[in-house]
Amino acid sequence: MPRRSPRSRIAVPSPIPWISIQVTFEPLSGVAFLSPKGGPGKTTLSHLLALGSAWAGLPAWLCHTDARRPLRVNDRPYALIDARGEARLEEVSEMLARRRRPSGGYAIFDGGGNRGDADMAIALAMDLVLVPITPSAESIELGLDFLARLDQAGRAPERSLLVLNQISSNVHEATMDERLFFGGISTVRVLCRVQRVSAVRTLLVPDDAQPGGLFPTPPPRVNHLARALERAVSARLTRAEHLDPRRTRTPADQHADSHTDIIALA
Ligand SMILES: Nc1ncnc2c1ncn2[C@@H]1O[C@H](COP(=O)(O)OP(=O)(O)O)[C@@H](O)[C@H]1O
Ligand SMILES: [Mg+2]
Repeated sequence: MPRRSPRSRIAVPSPIPWISIQVTFEPLSGVAFLSPKGGPGKTTLSHLLALGSAWAGLPAWLCHTDARRPLRVNDRPYALIDARGEARLEEVSEMLARRRRPSGGYAIFDGGGNRGDADMAIALAMDLVLVPITPSAESIELGLDFLARLDQAGRAPERSLLVLNQISSNVHEATMDERLFFGGISTVRVLCRVQRVSAVRTLLVPDDAQPGGLFPTPPPRVNHLARALERAVSARLTRAEHLDPRRTRTPADQHADSHTDIIALA
């Protein structure tokens, strides 16, 4: 059963002359993890969302746009597509846009801290852009700067959000990070917090380097994060559909829009 009613097309044209991804991915939801910084968790969160969508019974196509070689995968419950380079990125986008499976699902774009204009072209075509940041001053500065550029490019702020990643499960450390790093960030621009779970590393290990060449069953902690991330994304997409851009949003609306629960472990 479709989980969402059809979404309005995001018709912001790409201002980039050499690359245009002006497609709508409907009935897929286009979600990109983007950041000019290396290492805040774009690839990890992309795989977590793809895994979470599989556990939710939804197909996911994870498009790798990093210049580095994509992971070698064998039997993951989601598809990993090599979308490196402008021509291939456009081709893959068009291919996904032609999918007409009513069940929905996700077109996930893993940004590579690419040339900024490639990331911007991806961003403008997305239903939701997620910018991961970690508890570090540099990561936050670059993340907020990128968010401001997305706003300036005309994206609805509700559709460009931060994911606070690598939150310590030690409550004292988490509280300190909150105070030192995340305190000044507006909660309405935060989709969720994702805990630091070392087992997520297994998602970035090539399947042929695993015993039997097969994707191992992810540990429960990883599955839990994956499901929680998918739920947060799905809830935000559903909410964004109902946002009427002409209506002045009240503080109560803004409060309802914020979803800042720490993604807790089972
Ligand atoms: N929530 C997390 N918990 C633990 N480690 C994480 C988490 N998110 C990212 N990492 C680790 O941080 C490193 C960089 O993550 P990666 O997803 O490759 O970042 P990016 O794609 O943005 O460069 C990797 O070693 C990854 O395992
Ligand atoms: Mg990466």
